[in-house]
Amino acid sequence: GDVAVLVPAAGAGVRLGPGAPKALRLLAGEPLLVHAVRRIAAAGSVHTIVVAAPAGEVEAVRRLLAPVAPVLVVPGGAERQASVAAALAAVPAGPGIVLVHDAARALTPPELVESVAGAVRSGHDAVIPVLPVVDTIKEVGAGEVVLGTVDRSALRAVQTPQGFRRSVLAAAHAAAGDPLTDDAGLVEKQGIPVVCVPGSEYALKVTRPFDLALAEHLLAAGA
Ligand code: CTP
Ligand code: MG
Repeated sequence: GDVAVLVPAAGAGVRLGPGAPKALRLLAGEPLLVHAVRRIAAAGSVHTIVVAAPAGEVEAVRRLLAPVAPVLVVPGGAERQASVAAALAAVPAGPGIVLVHDAARALTPPELVESVAGAVRSGHDAVIPVLPVVDTIKEVGAGEVVLGTVDRSALRAVQTPQGFRRSVLAAAHAAAGDPLTDDAGLVEKQGIPVVCVPGSEYALKVTRPFDLALAEHLLAAGA
């Protein structure tokens, strides 16, 4: 394998409601992080997995993942971007491709990991999986008054894993300023082209209670 996968898993999961850190919340009896790592490890190109865990849960996460796959576990940071940077710093010499994949996208198929990695391997510096936007999107101003309708055909909803040539991601993080919600955003700021590939509905991010319920149903149906 020539791929390292960084798994930011240090978030609290505020939007999911009160409970354990989101990556440790249960989906069909197993933590979201276990589902996510199992699928990453099933992708044949993956050489190294580095998980950024909640700072107080590093040892617990090591024990949790030991039977699932060989992983490195580091403490995450206060923002997602800091968690990714911490994981990136722990990648050993070797892998030339680095993917960043949210633990919260627990049902992401190994095939999507391979397709993103393959697009980087074929020569793209930065690759993101996307889906078309299905809802009409309005821009609104003060008082929730509509200012206009955005051209949906030019919009994409962005998922993970996002894939990068290793040196490109490292340079983007080294130059990073204010925290962004994805890594491709940092690369865009460097003026480097980011290429889209088709995403997967199964790569949904478990964010709100509805998403957890949907993921339970998908898993029960064989995801
Ligand atoms: N993440 C992280 N470190 C942080 C914040 C987020 O590693 N300081 C991770 C989350 O664990 C998650 C991914 O980044 O796997 C995407 O973030 P998000 O879905 O926003 O998760 P949370 O930040 O945990 O959720 P919320 O914003 O609702 O608190
Ligand atoms: Mg968050």
